[in-house]
Amino acid sequence: MKHRDDVMALFERLGHLEYAGEGVSQWQHAWQCGQLALRAQASPALQAAAWLHDIGHLLDGETDTPTLHGHDDRHEARAAALLEPLFGAAVADPVALHVEAKRYLVATQADYAARLSADSQRSLALQGGPMPLVQAQAWREQPHADDALRLRVWDDLAKDPAWRPASRALAMDELASLLAHL
Ligand SMILES: [Fe+2]
Ligand SMILES: [Fe+2]
Repeated sequence: MKHRDDVMALFERLGHLEYAGEGVSQWQHAWQCGQLALRAQASPALQAAAWLHDIGHLLDGETDTPTLHGHDDRHEARAAALLEPLFGAAVADPVALHVEAKRYLVATQADYAARLSADSQRSLALQGGPMPLVQAQAWREQPHADDALRLRVWDDLAKDPAWRPASRALAMDELASLLAHL
C-alpha cells in the first residue's frame, strides 16, 4: 500500500467486516472514534489516527476476533508501519501506541480495566497485561503518548451499535476530506 487513496480503498473493500465481539462493523468503529476525536477538537492528524487506528485488522481481512484463538495480531504495529510513510508520525505514533495506552491505563487508573469490553479485556492478557509501573513513566514521556491516551479513551467508547451516521457513503466522504487536508 503506497498511496493515500489505498487507505480509502481498503475501507471501501473491507470496512463492512464485523469488529468481532463488539457489535459494530470496522467502519462504524472507525467513524465513531473519528467523531469523538472531532468533538474533542483534536488536531486533524489525531482525528485521522482515531479513524485509522484499527486498519491493521483490515489488512488481513480478519473476520473473527483473534483473541478467541489466543492470538495477538499486532494490528497496531502493522497499521503504523503503513501509515508512517503516508501521513507521518503525528498520525502513525498514536496508532502504534494505542494498545500500549490500554496497558498504561490499566496500570495507572484503578477503575479503567472494569470499563473495558470483554474482547479488550481478553486481548489485554495477550498483549502483555498491565504495564509494569517502572516502565510507565518512560512510556508516558515518549512523543505522542498523550495523543495515544486520548485516542484510547475514544477507542473504548466507539463501540455503540446504535450510533450511526446518515450513511456509510457520507462517513467515507468525511474520512476522504480529512485525509485530503493532512
Ligand atoms: Fe485496536
Ligand atoms: Fe479500536
